[in-house]
Amino acid sequence: MTEFRPATTTDSGAPAESDEHSLTVGPGGPILLHDAYLIEQMAQFNRERIPERQPHAKGSGAFGQFEVTHDVSAYTKAAVFQPGVRTDLVIRFSTVAGERGSPDTWRDPRGFAVKFYTSEGNYDMVGNNTPVFFMKDPMKFQHFIRSQKRRADNNLRDHDMQWDFWTLSPESAHQVTWLMGDRGIPRTWRHMNGYSSHTYMWINAEGDRFWVKYHFKTDQGIEFFTQHEADQMASVDTDYHVRDLFEHIRDGRHPSWTLYVQIMPYEDAATYRFNPFDLTKVWPHGDYPLIEVGRMTLDRNPTDNHAEIEQAAFQPNNLVPGIGPSPDRMLLARLFSYADAHRHRIGANYQQLPVNAPVVDVHTYSKDGAMAYRRTTDPVYAPNSKGGPAADTVGYGNPPSWEADGEIVRAAYVSHPEDDDWGQAGTLVREVMDGAARDRLVDNVVGHLLNGVSEPVLERAFRYWSNIDETIGKRITDGVRAKADEKDPKAAEQDSPARRAMQHKA
Ligand code: NDP
Ligand code: HEM
Repeated sequence: MTEFRPATTTDSGAPAESDEHSLTVGPGGPILLHDAYLIEQMAQFNRERIPERQPHAKGSGAFGQFEVTHDVSAYTKAAVFQPGVRTDLVIRFSTVAGERGSPDTWRDPRGFAVKFYTSEGNYDMVGNNTPVFFMKDPMKFQHFIRSQKRRADNNLRDHDMQWDFWTLSPESAHQVTWLMGDRGIPRTWRHMNGYSSHTYMWINAEGDRFWVKYHFKTDQGIEFFTQHEADQMASVDTDYHVRDLFEHIRDGRHPSWTLYVQIMPYEDAATYRFNPFDLTKVWPHGDYPLIEVGRMTLDRNPTDNHAEIEQAAFQPNNLVPGIGPSPDRMLLARLFSYADAHRHRIGANYQQLPVNAPVVDVHTYSKDGAMAYRRTTDPVYAPNSKGGPAADTVGYGNPPSWEADGEIVRAAYVSHPEDDDWGQAGTLVREVMDGAARDRLVDNVVGHLLNGVSEPVLERAFRYWSNIDETIGKRITDGVRAKADEKDPKAAEQDSPARRAMQHKA
């Protein structure tokens, strides 16, 4: 039996005359401008790409559900987190610094962006696979990303530039330690956790406020690649993580994550030993234990990666009643930045695309613009006496709030008793990593520093690591020096950046 194949059409639905031959003046003659179908094919091809995401360009995603298994209604009234509720979602995983075609196994944090299609509108939890970040003020984010991407002159990535930024930004120490450790290269996206990293606010039905951090723990277990394995994989399969996720879901081996939260009573924030809104710090589990919420399962692949993943627009400002922001400056800046990026990258009406549209009815006064698809009806203004939508100022009207007062300044965060740049990084090295993990950390940092880092950055890097942990700092310094001398035996007797740095330190 012959398989049924629909006839090709033009984009306007009329039958196409050929999939193979352009219109020409005789078989040997020139092609004709009035071959509108050929021109449609060429023109559409030239417009296939949209700008890639500035950070997080390389990634992919899938669809699934979140099911609430434990009762956390004492902390939030959000419908998505009420007992027994199941909510559809889309998730996108990504690397941060690489371009769209870059290898999945480069050392980098991974994005972990979830859009929940809730009964109260979309809720986006745009997190990473790490509980902390490189800085705590959004003024530095753009500079940070530029330092991780490419130089102006040769268009190459440059470790010197990366360490220059990091060592001049000591608040990066905790995240850099995490990045240079095993979790800096997850084996697959299925084998890593996701964190909100930021502190958010939860509000319950009585109006009580709590501070909250999210931890999506992988049910597949944590697995990582060593630097060597990752380098090998980068040359064998650039898209290893994309492929792994797609194939597991296609074959019915659905990955899942269990969501836990840490809850801090509202009043604790002022006196907690760490500033709870500082994105470079975790809340130790001993202070605020994990509370189970539910399970996220991924069970459906996209069928059109461009429409469903590339055009997916995650934005931390997509919040729902019962969930609000916190005074974390990074988070507050992100509430503006993402929607702005989407308007540029996708277009003014990006929220009308199927992957971004909520499952609830939209009653907005936003209208028109390029590619508007949703129908606008009168009245087009508010207030009106013509039956148009009116905000429910009683039900959902009160914004999440906290006390803020003072002069308008440009200043560092208020310090809490144990806030410093090195402490939690040192705890990670000394108390969480075992001996083998510490050895790999040292190897990873030494390898990274030997790859193009020069004075005075190198010397600062040695001091940076000694501030995190004296022993690790010495091992890294000695390791760089020994390998630099191995590469260049003459330098052992004469001069080398590593040797000069050592002499200076001594
Ligand atoms: P705990 O011993 O209770 O927690 C340590 C956590 O570290 C583990 O639960 C695990 O997080 C995570 N971890 C384990 N191995 C590694 C690794 N190789 N690289 C990075 N993280 C790893 O101690 P505390 O809560 O007091 O935290 C101690 C240190 O652990 C912190 O300074 C921080 O660096 C790190 N950490 C803490 C987290 C937190 O939210 N408290 C989260 C992640 C790291 P998980 O269970 O999420 O897999
Ligand atoms: C992507 C800005 C910090 C997680 C992006 C994008 C921008 C951006 C502009 C591209 C969006 C797009 O084009 O779709 C910022 C700014 C930050 C910041 C200004 C700080 C001031 C963070 C932090 C996290 C994070 C702290 C994690 C906790 C992500 C993720 C993506 C992303 C996961 C990719 C989302 C996707 O898959 O589409 N960021 N970011 N970002 N960011 Fe951030």
